[in-house]
Amino acid sequence: MAKTKIAFYCQNCGASYPKWQGKCNACGEWNTIAEEVIEKSSPGSPGMSRASSKNSAQKINQIDLKEETRISTRDKELDRVLGNGIVPGSVILLGGEPGIGKSTLMLQMVMQLDKKTLYISGEESLQQIKLRADRIEGKQDTTYLLAATNTQKILHQLENEKPDLLIIDSIQTLHTDRIDSSPGSISQIRECASELIDLAKHAQTPVILIGHINKQGSIAGPKVLEHMVDAVLQFEGDRNHAYRILRAQKNRFGSTHELGIYEMEVNGLRPVSNPSDILMSKVDVNLSGTAIAASVEGMRPLLIEIQALVSSAVYGTPQRTTTGYSTKRLNMLLAVLEKRAGFKLAAKDVFLNITGGIHVDDPALDLAVVASILSSSENVPIDRTTCLAAEIGLAGEVRPVQRVQLRIAEAEKMGFDSIIISQQTEKVTSPTKIQVKRIQTINELVDLLF
Ligand code: TYD
Ligand code: MG
Repeated sequence: MAKTKIAFYCQNCGASYPKWQGKCNACGEWNTIAEEVIEKSSPGSPGMSRASSKNSAQKINQIDLKEETRISTRDKELDRVLGNGIVPGSVILLGGEPGIGKSTLMLQMVMQLDKKTLYISGEESLQQIKLRADRIEGKQDTTYLLAATNTQKILHQLENEKPDLLIIDSIQTLHTDRIDSSPGSISQIRECASELIDLAKHAQTPVILIGHINKQGSIAGPKVLEHMVDAVLQFEGDRNHAYRILRAQKNRFGSTHELGIYEMEVNGLRPVSNPSDILMSKVDVNLSGTAIAASVEGMRPLLIEIQALVSSAVYGTPQRTTTGYSTKRLNMLLAVLEKRAGFKLAAKDVFLNITGGIHVDDPALDLAVVASILSSSENVPIDRTTCLAAEIGLAGEVRPVQRVQLRIAEAEKMGFDSIIISQQTEKVTSPTKIQVKRIQTINELVDLLF
């Protein structure tokens, strides 16, 4: 009888230990190490088995490239993030919080595709998926559904069906017969992923794995999962808002600077082609406390509206609350304003909000954040035809940011009259209409705006 082998894995980062301990040395988390039963059926990791046969070193110029024909997903946003479609034989991990729309995104994509797809669901029944498919427009005759969680069954089904694309919803529900630990455990996830990756590379069938996200925001399961796959996509957004952002965290076949933006509607996700339009509220009157930042997410320019509310603190310790922006960064900017520009904000509550429910951490937002705080504090509105793009340093200096040209072009496209940037920004090729104002310190911003 095979001897039962036991190992201890950190459920947070996947590090393995010969015996239990309280703290994971690899990631520093406490109480994350759990016992898992593993039983190896064959020596060596399964991922290695096929690769080792008939392998000899080759010169780079001797390797013949089979013509790489990417499968277009027919979804412009998804294609953009993937780098022009799905590469045959690639494995893509799509992560996101529960309920954000991962299953919807995948189902919608495969229903637009002309390719034969096998959609494996370990979470929902076929009836539930059918109900969702009915809400989304699209063809239903090229997609095959299977409710299964056992990888051996899935691999068997694959051999029968021979689909052009395989979707696994989700990797955390799978289990393999080779290992005894429960589904969702680190060793199961790793083993199942490795079996599927092996298959993808061998049969040249692309596989998309849907994965859940844990509290810390990383994909639940071992970090190694992210290392094993070719691309890691993150689907994020605020569930109370309709907008969702798709980013590539890793992409072996394309850039990680691209961004896809969707809006969740009653009949599925709609790609948003002009995001700047939706991220600014459509009010014509000038209200105090709002400023527009010319931001760039990856390679995509976005004009984002920032709203601030500064009011006298009712309690002893003033509140600093942000939505979609880092509270630490806000505190830093408030300290700079206090020290370098002489604004007394220590006894004020400050609330900061980025419209649209998206989270941005572009340093170029600094100037607009400061402008909106000043505007609210002084109760003087900022002209809605002006936008801002610069970082602020601890000395109160206004610093240049990346891709200024892109920001200016977007601001001009959206009909802004002027944009405020840092004095140190290198020369920009002159735009036609928009006025580019350069400043050096936040004191100059105060003079310029009020
Ligand atoms: P789902 O794809 O099930 O999320 P995930 O797989 O990431 O857990 O999406 C769930 C949410 O999406 C659900 O709360 C309802 C919403 N939704 C719509 O608003 N419109 C739609 O057409 C669909 C299919 C879902
Ligand atoms: Mg789902």
